[in-house]
Amino acid sequence: MSGEQRQWGGRFAAGMDALTAAYTAGADQDLWEHDIAGSVAHARMLGKQGIIVQTDAAAIIRGLGEVLALFQRGEVVWRPELEDIHTHVEVLLRERIGESAGRLHTARSRNDQVGLLNRMLVRECCDEGIRGTTEFIEVLCGLAEAHAADPMPGYTHVQRAQPVTLGHHLLAYGEMLLRDRDRFIDCRKRVNVLPLGSGALAGSPYPLDREMVAAELGFESVSRNSLDATADRDFVAEFLFACATTQMHVSRLAEEIVLWASAEFAFLKLPDAFATGSSIMPQKKNADVAELARGRTGRVYGELIAMLTTMKGLPLAYNRDLQEDKASVQAARAVVIPTLRIFAAMVPALRFDLPRMRVAAGQNFSLATDVADYLVKKGLSFRDAHGVVGGLVRECETRGCELAGLPFPVYAAASPLFEEEILLLDVDSALAARDIPGGTAPRQVRLAAAGLRAQLRS
Ligand code: ARG
Repeated sequence: MSGEQRQWGGRFAAGMDALTAAYTAGADQDLWEHDIAGSVAHARMLGKQGIIVQTDAAAIIRGLGEVLALFQRGEVVWRPELEDIHTHVEVLLRERIGESAGRLHTARSRNDQVGLLNRMLVRECCDEGIRGTTEFIEVLCGLAEAHAADPMPGYTHVQRAQPVTLGHHLLAYGEMLLRDRDRFIDCRKRVNVLPLGSGALAGSPYPLDREMVAAELGFESVSRNSLDATADRDFVAEFLFACATTQMHVSRLAEEIVLWASAEFAFLKLPDAFATGSSIMPQKKNADVAELARGRTGRVYGELIAMLTTMKGLPLAYNRDLQEDKASVQAARAVVIPTLRIFAAMVPALRFDLPRMRVAAGQNFSLATDVADYLVKKGLSFRDAHGVVGGLVRECETRGCELAGLPFPVYAAASPLFEEEILLLDVDSALAARDIPGGTAPRQVRLAAAGLRAQLRS
């Protein structure tokens, strides 16, 4: 392409090498809707302020509508030599309305224009993150209510520790995702500041009405510093951190689904609709959805680290390095949003083996702490009680039985505080005992689910 056809044609005698064109192209092809909306708002404001004449503003706005329709119909042929979406829109506009198109870029630089585009993109992504987490949290609340009284083993160090309810376990993820949701909400607030009007870096000599543009595009406020507004991408890093944390949380659940679907745990069966088979082993049913969610987490982290590294030591104001941000945002979004969607569909379809989980919940001396707590209630110090029950567990191991399998005289010999009622201790009574806020008692699980739902409405 010749120098004249480019936006900076006047300065350039020779055209650009095709390699340069390809190398410098940005990942913003899909962002025409945002770019055009920004340009429409800018043109309307320029006209109202008398910076360009109203007839030009009207022609530009009409022309941008036609360009939008072209994109909507998929009729735009991408030309890498035009560098980015901003140039494409302007060139297409000129093809439609001629000379007036040249007035659209008055009082604007691609540096503040791309800042605007990025903020519109990240704002939209935050909204998707908020929606995605909200839907998944609602699903988890529903399941938690359904399984509020279904026991399963709780683990520490991947060793059976104490019984919990399946509802309580699922709500742990609900709480994590609520914080993720909060992060998207919070990030959105800092994103929602209009950078347009910052010019290339120093502000604009025209009497712009920035508040008008902000209002039209749904921004809460306008930026206070033109250098910051054109050079800053911390809102991108923040969004990527929210994505990374969300994906990390889902990866923990993913790992549990993989484990629980194994023959070793056999706590659940994968629904056919969310499982995959093996090309060689006819019996296999694999948790590939969970594995891929787990596996893609690293890529989301990568985008966060990439963005932080791009910004590190970057002098003010705009540098082309910053163009990399959109690719990172889109890549993270393309992992996190579908992950939330498929988990919200898959988790309710998991077929839990509740009887097996209940049996497992009572095995491996999982009520040992409760036996110690029994002695504490009778006046023994917890340390001494711990020692007494430790001795009982050793006795069980010699006999090859569970605590409930020991005859009462063995208890009585271990401590005179034991009464026959100790034999009534079971998984359900252990669960019901943990009836304080944050505990796993079925009643508390129902309350916690209601509390979580209330947070979604607040
Ligand atoms: N494509 C560029 C980006 O995404 C737009 C801004 C270009 N500005 C410039 N001075 N080259 O960052």
